[in-house]
Amino acid sequence: MSRARIAVTRRLPEPALERLREAAEVWVSPHDRPLDLGELRDAVAGAEAVLTLLHDRVDGALLDAAGEQLRCVANVAVGFDNIDVAAASERGVVVTNTPGVLTDATADLTLALILGVTRRVGEGERWVREGRFWSWDMFFLLGAGLTGKTLGVVGLGGIGRSVARRALGFGMEIVYSTPRRAPPDVEASLGGARHLPLDELLRVSDVVSLHCPLTPATRHLIDARALALMRPSAFLVNTARGPVVDEAALVDALEAGTLAGAGLDVYEREPEVHPGLLERDDVVLLPHLGSATIETRTAMAMLAAENAIAMLEGRRPPTAVNPDVL
Ligand code: DGY
Repeated sequence: MSRARIAVTRRLPEPALERLREAAEVWVSPHDRPLDLGELRDAVAGAEAVLTLLHDRVDGALLDAAGEQLRCVANVAVGFDNIDVAAASERGVVVTNTPGVLTDATADLTLALILGVTRRVGEGERWVREGRFWSWDMFFLLGAGLTGKTLGVVGLGGIGRSVARRALGFGMEIVYSTPRRAPPDVEASLGGARHLPLDELLRVSDVVSLHCPLTPATRHLIDARALALMRPSAFLVNTARGPVVDEAALVDALEAGTLAGAGLDVYEREPEVHPGLLERDDVVLLPHLGSATIETRTAMAMLAAENAIAMLEGRRPPTAVNPDVL
């Protein structure tokens, strides 16, 4: 009997590829870049399972190009806004993601951005590297402290909670906004975190950190109106998905001085960055590094591999996002 075929759209950590090769014939993209649409179609054709990254658009046409034998699209990311899940469900294809394994890494990087933007780490680093004159000065590159300040967490899933826990260690108070209030024990574990409507959270927070998924409801959740509610001394941090923020409106707010700064790991048209952000000193810009640790990327790839293999072996994949298909 011929072995099932698994397509991997971009190189993954070796332990995951080894695990996949034990179970199937594995094709791995030879390119160190996202595949273009034609390459993606060719890659998925005839595959029983496909491991995708967040830059691969998986829509009905691509699923049809794969063929009726396709059982599983295993996204190597917790976010799955790159996949048309309804189209997959219609075709009986299970979509899986990688929740949990990247929570700590992403929360750590969020704190790096919070500290980076409030304490002007990027500016200071550039100053030294550029060889500009400096001496210890009472008023040189003063930032904003975190102790006693309020962190507004938008989306209190695993990553939002982990960020809140870390922020407690910096002496911050936590407010959060979610469609449904968290259970009392969760609020208590976050230092008595208060559930607020988004507008109120934006008004009272010194730092707003975004941790919601990208959905039609959260696209441009932080638009000009939302930004206008924030304090001129407040900072916005986004390690979720770029399109949650209207980048042009963010540039306008920074330019107008109605916001103190922003720390961004994700962008509206990734990997493009709004030119108005690139020239500003009050923003810290990272190239989507939230989950970028060796341990986390390996764990993400292993979980995606387990999801795909489980589907091929007739077992329940550990983290399906459309389990109704099973
Ligand atoms: C995810 O998993 O959704 C992250 O954005 C990847 O770093």
